[in-house]
Amino acid sequence: MEIRIVPISEGEKKAKYTDESQLGFGRIFTDYMLLVEWKAGQGWVDARIKKYEPFQIDPAALVLHYAQEIFEGLKAYKWEDGTIALFRPEMNARRFNHSAERLCMPEIPEELFVKGIEQLVALESAWVPGSEGTSLYIRPAMIAVEPHVGIKPSDHYYFYVILSPVGAYYAAGFNPVKIMVEDKYVRATPGGTGEAKTGGNYASSLKAGLEAKKKGYDQVLWLDGVHKRYIEEVGSMNMFFAYGDTIVTAPLEGSILRGITRDSVITIAKSLGLKVEERKIDVNELMQDLKSGKVTEAFGSGTAAVVTPVGTLCYADETVQVGNGGVGKHTQKLYDTLTGIQTGKIEDKFGWITK
Ligand code: COI
Repeated sequence: MEIRIVPISEGEKKAKYTDESQLGFGRIFTDYMLLVEWKAGQGWVDARIKKYEPFQIDPAALVLHYAQEIFEGLKAYKWEDGTIALFRPEMNARRFNHSAERLCMPEIPEELFVKGIEQLVALESAWVPGSEGTSLYIRPAMIAVEPHVGIKPSDHYYFYVILSPVGAYYAAGFNPVKIMVEDKYVRATPGGTGEAKTGGNYASSLKAGLEAKKKGYDQVLWLDGVHKRYIEEVGSMNMFFAYGDTIVTAPLEGSILRGITRDSVITIAKSLGLKVEERKIDVNELMQDLKSGKVTEAFGSGTAAVVTPVGTLCYADETVQVGNGGVGKHTQKLYDTLTGIQTGKIEDKFGWITK
C-alpha cells in the first residue's frame, strides 16, 4: 500500500530538545505520525504520514469503554557514522498481529507495519538522539474507534505510530533497581490476555505498582495467577536470574509477554557460552537461592528497559540483596553486547539490524 505524506509547514514544527541527557522516557513526541485506518468491508485504507496532533474520536468509541487496544514498542538508534538502525522490527509486527488476534482486531500486513515505520523514522531522522543510552522509541498502537456502547469488536480501527526520543526508562539509568514480588494482586491467568500487549494488562497493574512504590520499590514482579508461586514478568520487562554461568528465565506458556529483548538476550547468552534454561522458577526456592548466594545476578529485559540490573528483591516482607547489590558481570556483558549490536559498535552476526 502506498503511504501518502501530508506535509506540515516549518512554522508548525516543534522546537527540538537541546539536551539529550535530559530526555527521560516518553514525554517528547516528534512532528509527524503514521495513521492507517481499517474499515469493515474495506480493510486497510488511507495510509498517511501526517502531523502529530490529537485525535477527534467519538466519546462512545469502543476503545474508551472496553479497552479494545493493542500496542508495541521498538527503537531506532543513531550510529556514530550517522546510520539510523531499527532493531528486529519484523518481530514487533508478528507480535502485534498475535495481540490483534487475541483482541479480535484485524491483522496488519507485516510489510505495511515495517515499511510505515521505516518511512516515518526516515522522515523524522533529525529527532533520533545519538548519545550513549538514548534512542528514538517507536510506539505503534491500534485502537477501536467505532462509536458503540454495546460490547462487540469494532468495525473501524486506527493503526498509528508515534515517535519519542528517549533516554533510560528507569530514572536510575543502568543501575540496580528494587523489585517487590507481588503476592496479593495477579497480572494474568491461563487463558487470559497476559501474552498480548494490550493496555488493559497495564491498567490492571497500576494498583500493585503504586503500593510497591509507597514501600520504596521501583516495580513489582508478578507471580503466576493460579498458585502465586512461579515467577512470571515485571510488566515492563521479562526476568532473568544467573546461577553462576547458567541464566534462568520463565518459560513462555501464554501468560507472559514474548519479549523480543528476552529472545535476543537468550540468543546472545548462548553465543557467549552461557547455559540458558527456560523453566518454572518457584519464588520460595528463588529466595533461598538468593540468600545462599546460588543466584549471583538478576536482571530484567525489555525494549524500554533494555537490560536492567536488579539489586534488591522483596517477597513476603523479606528483603534480600542480589549478589553484591551491584551490576553482575553477565548482566554487564549482555547489556554491552545487546546495545553494541543496536548501536553498530558490535557486528550484527544475527541479522537483527534494519538500516
Ligand atoms: C517496552 O516497550 O519495553 C514496554 O514494555 C512498554 C512500556 C513498559 C514502556
